[in-house]
Amino acid sequence: MNKKITIQEIQRAKKDNRKLVMMTAYDYPFGLMADEAGVDIVLVGDSLGMVVMGLEGTVAVTMEDMIHHIRAVVRGCRNPLVVGDMPFMSYNTSIRDAIINAGRLMKEGGCDVVKLEGGVDFAPTVAAIVKAGIPVQGHIGLTPQTASALGGFKMQGKDVDGAVKIIDDARALEDAGAFSLILEAVPAPLAGLVTDSVEIPVIGIGAGAEVDGQVLVTHDMIGLFDKFVPKFVKQYTQIRPVILEALGAYKQEVQEKSFPAAEHGFKMDEETLEQVKKRIS
Ligand code: KIV
Repeated sequence: MNKKITIQEIQRAKKDNRKLVMMTAYDYPFGLMADEAGVDIVLVGDSLGMVVMGLEGTVAVTMEDMIHHIRAVVRGCRNPLVVGDMPFMSYNTSIRDAIINAGRLMKEGGCDVVKLEGGVDFAPTVAAIVKAGIPVQGHIGLTPQTASALGGFKMQGKDVDGAVKIIDDARALEDAGAFSLILEAVPAPLAGLVTDSVEIPVIGIGAGAEVDGQVLVTHDMIGLFDKFVPKFVKQYTQIRPVILEALGAYKQEVQEKSFPAAEHGFKMDEETLEQVKKRIS
């Protein structure tokens, strides 16, 4: 079936108690596979910086990086809702910048909605982007773009104040018009409270099972990027050794001259070959 999933369907899933499935993708082949696998939502996340670009974190990812990768993913995704992640400093400087940059991700990248990190403090920004006609997904709990201010890539909402702040953040985003939110790295019982505190779907990553859906960084869950694997990731396969084995076999066959074999080449009849040889001699 070729039918783009709508925000309304995403929101209805919470009411119907149907768990939402979200994954990241950064290029066309993974966009196609996400589509074929039948996931609900594909996030072109700024995790791109780490798992594709080899950066230490997400801070250096630019609007141009995001647009380039969103474009490729969108070409593969007919059915899933495609979320474009707003990179650090594309929405933090002013509400005007935020609207312009959210618009660029949609117009130039082609994503269906945008995502940005932050709760109460960014509610006015979310409200302004939504008012401009661009659907927004929030992202609270551990917010990787500002991880250094949070003391590193750590679980959030440990004490009462921290936990209440996360619930306040969720409510502020809902009031601002966010259609859904990502909740990252919080204790499972707190995630359950957040989920019950808002009507919009809460999609967890490292937030336990009492949420409305799950998202994982695909390169983590398939073992393509293993420089650092967070505790909350389940690795469904280990694709890196499979690729390395293939690359090793290719290298060996080229070096020992067993690749390419005759069947991997194009033929030329003897007569044509002889004529060519005559002409060049
Ligand atoms: O950038 C990303 O991949 C994300 C996920 C961790 C939710 O924001």
